[in-house]
Amino acid sequence: MPSLSVFGAQWGDEGKGKIIDLLSDRVDLVVRYQGGANAGHTVVVDGEKWVLHLIPSGILHEGKLNIIGSGVAIDPVKLLGELDGLKERGVHVGPDRLKIAANAHVIFEQHKHIDGLSERWKGSGRIGTTGRGIGPAYADKAARTGLRICDLLDPVRCAERLRANLAEKNALIQRVHEEPPLPVDELVDRYSALGARLRPFVADTGALLRQAYRDGRRILFEGAQGIMLDLDHGTYPYVTSSSTGSGGIPSGAGVPPSMVGRPIGIAKAYCTRVGEGPFPSEMKDAAEAERLRAAGHEYGATTGRPRRAGFFDAVAVRYGLELCGAEGWIMTKLDVLAGLGDLEIVTSYRCGEDTYTEYPAHLASLDGIETVTEAIPGWTEDISDCRSFGELPDGARKYVERVEELIGVPIVLVSVGADRGANIVRG
Ligand code: GTP
Repeated sequence: MPSLSVFGAQWGDEGKGKIIDLLSDRVDLVVRYQGGANAGHTVVVDGEKWVLHLIPSGILHEGKLNIIGSGVAIDPVKLLGELDGLKERGVHVGPDRLKIAANAHVIFEQHKHIDGLSERWKGSGRIGTTGRGIGPAYADKAARTGLRICDLLDPVRCAERLRANLAEKNALIQRVHEEPPLPVDELVDRYSALGARLRPFVADTGALLRQAYRDGRRILFEGAQGIMLDLDHGTYPYVTSSSTGSGGIPSGAGVPPSMVGRPIGIAKAYCTRVGEGPFPSEMKDAAEAERLRAAGHEYGATTGRPRRAGFFDAVAVRYGLELCGAEGWIMTKLDVLAGLGDLEIVTSYRCGEDTYTEYPAHLASLDGIETVTEAIPGWTEDISDCRSFGELPDGARKYVERVEELIGVPIVLVSVGADRGANIVRG
């Protein structure tokens, strides 16, 4: 199989970083195609923790070419900071190991500033964004007022387009939000200088990928966030501003759909969600939620925010896998459930007289949704050293089998720890 893709089948933070790192061994190129530095892929190698925000997880493997595609919103400050951080830890990333799409859009200071102001403006209707400027940068892309990486490389063009963009943003900042304007000359100078540093990495990454595919090189497309946060198919408006599933790959990487290859969904053995918005399987008991959060270290890799905790939601995961055409999926963090008592699984939703076993994407809001759950006895044993399905305690095996039955798509691997090797491959 020349290409593979990995996507989150829940609300993000499914543990994709570890799985992408594992799969990177089997491929030649690793590609990010959407989102921005709001992703926080955590990889643990020999007990050492790495958190990658914009750079594909393949960077921790020698000899892999890593690509940031045109669908990613790139914050040059964050990207260069991440490169410097890797260098400090002995991972030198040169243009032979990382390529950035010339046509990817740029996140500027004004986008980050407006992200915060706009959340403040919305008050109780806020989305709960990471404040990284991603939504405002994608909005400029759609409004055709944004700048791309290639614009940064030409100082005259950069100054002209950035001044025009800042004129509009400063009007908004001053007149609507009643805040002081951003310093135009200083920002033009700063971003032109950043462009010069990025220049060696910039390429026509779509053409490069299509050629690599023709040459028989294997490609891994790594998704960030999760399907329930997809701009079109998630819990709108409480979503991220990009296409998080396999559907986002062709446009976000600049390749034909036929190049996308086999999609593999990733879902945790339970659910979490960051920020505001519907979360049908959320635990109502605060103490129970806190126990799960503590056991799973469910605090944002990017922001440190505590994540909302919930039971495994079979309706949502089935929807995500179907939407992306996954024929197999990976269950992560099963080890976290040990010792948490009886476990619940959401099997369907109820709204008034209606019962939904399929995710009701047509509803304007999930506010009135109640969940129908099934209780399963838990287990107490630590399973993080188990390496075969047969070694798992009865409760854990039954839990995996029941979830798999409800989803109807085979679980190909169960992750039982953060480390690279903590896995159970299912035959
Ligand atoms: P986003 O793209 O931002 O949604 O993140 P992500 O899906 O890559 O999630 P992340 O890498 O932040 O993973 C969440 C955390 O779980 C990290 O700290 C991982 O090291 C850890 N983790 C991954 N798999 C397992 C597992 O099976 N068990 C345990 N205990 N921890 C795991």
